[in-house]
Amino acid sequence: MADFHPSPPPADLKPRISASYDAIALAYNSWTAKHNQFRNRYLAKLFGLCPALTATAPESGSSTTTSAAVVELGCGSGVPILREVLAANPTTHATGIDISTAQIALAAENLSAYVTENRVILRVADMASEQDVSFPDESLDAVIALWSIIHLPQDEQREVIARAARWLKSGGCMLVNFGGGPSMEGIVVEKWLGEKGWMFWSSLGDDGYTRALKQACMKVVVADTVEEGTGSFFWVIAMKQ
Ligand SMILES: C[S@@+](CC[C@H](N)C(=O)[O-])C[C@H]1O[C@@H](n2cnc3c(N)ncnc32)[C@H](O)[C@@H]1O
Repeated sequence: MADFHPSPPPADLKPRISASYDAIALAYNSWTAKHNQFRNRYLAKLFGLCPALTATAPESGSSTTTSAAVVELGCGSGVPILREVLAANPTTHATGIDISTAQIALAAENLSAYVTENRVILRVADMASEQDVSFPDESLDAVIALWSIIHLPQDEQREVIARAARWLKSGGCMLVNFGGGPSMEGIVVEKWLGEKGWMFWSSLGDDGYTRALKQACMKVVVADTVEEGTGSFFWVIAMKQ
């Protein structure tokens, strides 16, 4: 049984998370395939709420533009989320950000056709770094972050939510899941999914997330607590007002 224990975020959190996901990328990606039912369920809801993501390409000669811009923070191996997003609208352009070089290398393989078409940019970066990860205000149709913001310290989670809200166009949506239940400064396990799988998670708690989203002018449209066997997660779709 893995030993989960409370811990504040260590000073070297980011290099440790990056090294861990480099080591456990393959194990994580095969372990988490069982969660695709949740990914698919909430991606379908996002598509329903954000029509730009599924609009079809304009007829040639038409001046109508339907292109959508999407960012996934902590995109992992790019499947299924970025692949589905790119398949849903032939004019969508996406950016995938991940702190793990191994995950981004897998995403580049999995999305190679879209890389060739210049429809996806994949970057190794810390989503919490404003210098490295930033987009013009009101330029995005959707920001997606699944099981990824949970790896940031609490204060960075608030900052990323506020920043992502600024990037969204009015009517654009954020699809995100957070650690469910009460606020938690940090929990650590030494060997998650492998000998080199040191891992950290934190949570603002359901109320904290609802407050942070409201402060960022986001209207919470979907808010579900989902039991996943290994814990409960707070799944949210919020729309920029
Ligand atoms: C639990 S995995 C989720 C991956 C993918 N979103 C999915 O649905 O399977 C967390 C991912 O977030 C990435 N990650 C963790 N901290 C990050 C950070 N500060 N910036 C960017 N990516 C980060 C990890 O490298 C990992 O690929």
